[in-house]
This record gives sequence, C-alpha cells and structure tokens, in this order.
Amino acid sequence: MKKVRVRLGSNSYDICIGSGLLMQTGQQLKEIGFSDKLVIITDPTVKRLYGDTLKRSLTSNGFKVLVLEVPEGEEQKSLETAGNLYSDLSNFHAERTTPILALGGGVIGDLTGFIAATYLRGVPLVQIPTTLLAQVDSSIGGKVALNHGQLKNKIGAFYQPRLVISDITTLRTLTTRELSDGLAEIVKYGVIGGKGLFTYLGRNIDKVKSLDEGALEEIIFRVAKIKAKVVEKDERDFDLRNILNYGHTIGHAIESASDFKVGHGEAVAIGMLVEGRISNKLGIIDKDEVIKLKDIIARAGLPTEIPSLQLERLIQAIKHDKKILQGKIRFVLPKSIGNVFITDEVSPSMIEQALVE
Ligand SMILES: NC(=O)c1ccc[n+]([C@@H]2O[C@H](COP(=O)([O-])OP(=O)(O)OC[C@H]3O[C@@H](n4cnc5c(N)ncnc54)[C@H](O)[C@@H]3O)[C@@H](O)[C@H]2O)c1
Repeated sequence: MKKVRVRLGSNSYDICIGSGLLMQTGQQLKEIGFSDKLVIITDPTVKRLYGDTLKRSLTSNGFKVLVLEVPEGEEQKSLETAGNLYSDLSNFHAERTTPILALGGGVIGDLTGFIAATYLRGVPLVQIPTTLLAQVDSSIGGKVALNHGQLKNKIGAFYQPRLVISDITTLRTLTTRELSDGLAEIVKYGVIGGKGLFTYLGRNIDKVKSLDEGALEEIIFRVAKIKAKVVEKDERDFDLRNILNYGHTIGHAIESASDFKVGHGEAVAIGMLVEGRISNKLGIIDKDEVIKLKDIIARAGLPTEIPSLQLERLIQAIKHDKKILQGKIRFVLPKSIGNVFITDEVSPSMIEQALVE
C-alpha cells in the first residue's frame, strides 16, 4: 500500500492506495479513532460488486452499519436525493461523530460529501472511490457538490474527508468508457504536474490501460501526490487550483455541443490537444511537444480528432463556458509538457484555427 498525506493543518488526511484495501477498511477506521456505528452511501452496481466486502470488514471490526443506496447517474446529485438521505440518517439516529462512507464513483463521492458537510453541520467523511476518475481526482481535495437546474456543481462546499481509501482491485470491473474518463485525467496530470510523470506515463501507459496492478498503484500514487500539492497551496480554488481545468474549457464545450454523446474523458482528451495547439499558435509550446501530447493521448486509447460537430455550435458552447471572466475566455495552456499557465489572451480566431487544424 502507498500513502499520500494531504497537509491542510487540522484538516490533514491520508490517501491510501493499494490492492484489497476494502477488506482492511474496518481496521483502518478503528485505527483513526472511529467506533460504534457508521453509514455507507453507494449505488446499486457498486453495492452489488463491493458492498458485502466492505460491510463484512466493518461489522467484523465491531461497527453497526447502515447501507443507503441511491440510483446511478449524475441526476442524483440533487437536493431531492439529499433530502431523502437526511431523513434516512435521522431515522438511523446518526450523530455528529457518525462517519459517512462514500463507496462509488465521483457522483457518489460528490453527493455523499455534500451530505457529510451539511448533516448536523458536518459529520466525518470517508471517501472510498471505485472509478479511476474518482481515485485520481474527485475523491481528493474536498470539493463536494450537487447540481441545481443549470447550476452544475454549484451548490456545495469545501469539505475535506478524514481518509481516502483507493482499492485498485475495484477498477477491474469498470467499462472502457469509465476507464477512459480516468485515463484522460491521468494524462492531464502528466501535462500539468512535471515532466517526470509524463515520462513515466509514456513508458507505462500500456500497463496502466491493461490494469497492471503495480503500474496502476504507482500512477494513482503519483497523480494523487500532484493533486494533494495543488490543493495544499490553494484549498479554496482562488488561483492555482484552476490549473486542474486544463483541457476542460474546450472539453466541456465538446461535451455540450455533442449533446453529451461524446464522453467526458474523450472530450477532455481532444480539449487537451486543441489547447496545446492554441499554445503553439501563441508561440509558447514547441510543435514537438504537441506531437508528444497527441501520441500519449492516442496510446491511452483516447480520440485525437474532433467529432463532426457544427463549428458554430462549438464556438458558442466555448463562449458559454463558466471560465469566462469579464467577457474573456480563460484558458489553462501548456507552456511545455509538465508546466502550464493561465491566460485570457486567446482570440476567437485562434481558437477556431486550433479547432480545425
Ligand atoms: N469533486 C471533484 O473534485 C470532482 C472532480 C471531477 C469530477 N467530479 C464529478 O465526478 C462525477 C463523475 O464521476 P465518475 O466518472 O466516477 O462517474 P460515476 O460516479 O457516475 O460512475 C460511473 C458509473 O460507474 C459505476 N461504477 C463505479 N465504480 C465501479 C466499479 N468499480 N466497477 C463497475 N462499475 C462501477 C457507477 O455505478 C456508475 O454507473 C461527476 O459528477 C463530476 O462532476 C468531481
């Protein structure tokens, strides 16, 4: 097992990464001082696959466990679902010291985190991410959120977990699309987080793709370390944390202009490449580096070509992106591989050229 410490003063916590960790969770929770009862929030697929293993580990360590199940899907990040969960917690007589465990992907993590942050003004949260995206990204850093109408992820809080347990054996049951979403985020961290990770990724991407446990553990560890550093420097997303949006300005626009037919990971992959081209047009990143970026995206099994979308619709979607400040579109662009910068000096014509290149 590998560990990353997220250092945030009294809100510091460990991220544990390894195989078979679900079976050790009861013991680990006892070690950090929990006892008595706790609540697991999960979805039907994850419950079927991993619910019993986790529950057994907890009950054999003396915990009384309530398992709450919410249907799958982004639409569950809602005030309505939250309301039902508050009632369940209240019926169980959950107290301020009762930990809530998020067992699932980013949807369960964001929803459960929101519940933990708000129920009784805050109860302990443990993230147990089971998708690659959740293990490398969403379970780390304390952003918890619901959606409300057009406000995606806008009703929320910064609420750090007490512990993150990433059991890499759970990744074996993911679909190709869910794996792609995680791989795209890993490539993103390779570009924003230093040449070392990008080089490691170049040497090991095939192993990561085929879920080789050693390579997976190492890559999740390295990515978690980068995210932890960014969060430590800018917990509340005032400046540095924005770099985590690399690939997402164009990526979100592609998702939305395709009516979400293009998946998140695929859209971010194309977004990273287009944003690399924009940087090259600004005279910043070398063409060779953009080629290396394209190569790693392709080797990760992600697309490098923009699907046939109406250019005009895509441009409109970019303009509507949440990262527009005073009429200017804000981009995170690579300076070189391993290093990014933030700019709002990209002209619409340059964006168009980079899209059609
Ligand atoms: N809080 C953050 O910092 C942050 C960062 C990035 C994304 N997010 C959020 O994360 C969400 C997306 O998360 P996601 O990509 O994990 O999707 P998800 O949570 O919807 O999970 C995708 C599907 O995978 C299934 N699943 C989960 N683990 C599985 C496993 N081990 N085996 C088989 N199936 C499994 C789930 O049942 C679900 O159907 C979005 O809501 C997004 O806003 C949050």
